[in-house]
Amino acid sequence: MIDWSKLTFHYTETDYIVRSACHNGIWGKPYATRDKYMSIHVAATGLQYGQECFEGLKAFRGIDGKVRIFRMEENAKRMQRSAEGLLMTPIPAELFCEAIQLALEKNIDFLPPYETGATLYFRPVLVATTPEISVGPGKDCEFIVIPTPIGPYFPNGFKGTPFLVNRSIDRAAPQGTGQWKVGGNYAASFRASEMAHALGYECMFTDAKTHRYIDECTASNFIGIKRLATGDYEYLTPRSSAILPSITNDSLMTLASEMGLKVTRRRIRLEELADMCEAAACGTACVISPITKVVDLDRDKVYPLGEPGPVLTQLYHALQDIQYGRVEDKYGWTRIFEL
Ligand code: PLP
Ligand code: COI
Repeated sequence: MIDWSKLTFHYTETDYIVRSACHNGIWGKPYATRDKYMSIHVAATGLQYGQECFEGLKAFRGIDGKVRIFRMEENAKRMQRSAEGLLMTPIPAELFCEAIQLALEKNIDFLPPYETGATLYFRPVLVATTPEISVGPGKDCEFIVIPTPIGPYFPNGFKGTPFLVNRSIDRAAPQGTGQWKVGGNYAASFRASEMAHALGYECMFTDAKTHRYIDECTASNFIGIKRLATGDYEYLTPRSSAILPSITNDSLMTLASEMGLKVTRRRIRLEELADMCEAAACGTACVISPITKVVDLDRDKVYPLGEPGPVLTQLYHALQDIQYGRVEDKYGWTRIFEL
């Protein structure tokens, strides 16, 4: 029996995963299996050359008892872009969604109840399976959906997390793979994250070219809130070719403009943190996780941001109200299932 309230962002095995293989450009029908191991050729290009990409999305048990999956089609599109970026065979969006739906249906007992703060997270993975030794892309691949019930991404959740800037390790180059959700980006970030964790922080990356502008965090985009001279607020988020286009950030920008905030996406100098009244990391896993301070050891600077503020709190509730069905979803962001 799972204690939903004790779940963290770690893997809990469920009954089924879902798989589909692509051979010679033809996709097989997604099927559910209890087997969590897969057999692929030892020379698969996914294993050797990192030809792999993944996604992350959630299903929520709503206040009305219905299940909502948030913006699944956007994850399908992003996985297609990631696949194209690595010269893999993109999975058709309908097949992606069919596989997620099957993974939900087959694992419905693992969907956390409403108000536990936990959700059912899906980790779709696309890995190239063509055996090859010469350096080049393989076209055959396996698509897998791994469901797992999860709790908060950062241990402090909405209470806030301190971040450390690391200029000694870059996550992704300006013309590299940062805009795609490929495993290699995360492997490249491990050392920086470990360094930050050892000092009690999460890691914040600056742009790899100049190290002057905020890029993003290991697994989330950055949002800063500024108070303007007029008394209004501005929602600021980095424009960078090296960051993942976050579906959460995109949704929050829509909600923020609706709330009357000025929404700006542009390059953001690290020093601008001093003018921000609130800041947060945002993403599927961490939703909105306020940033309590940013420490820049190289420049001997600390940017205190304090307690989670009213603007981010309002945005957090606006997003979660849609995800949990507490308000009408006028954007059509959720796919609703009666399971
Ligand atoms: N940036 C990175 C590097 C991520 O891994 C994620 C997580 O998916 C995000 C941003 C947030 O993206 P999304 O809101 O689509 O989950
Ligand atoms: C997500 O937010 O869904 C992610 O995939 C981030 C992560 C790599 C844990």
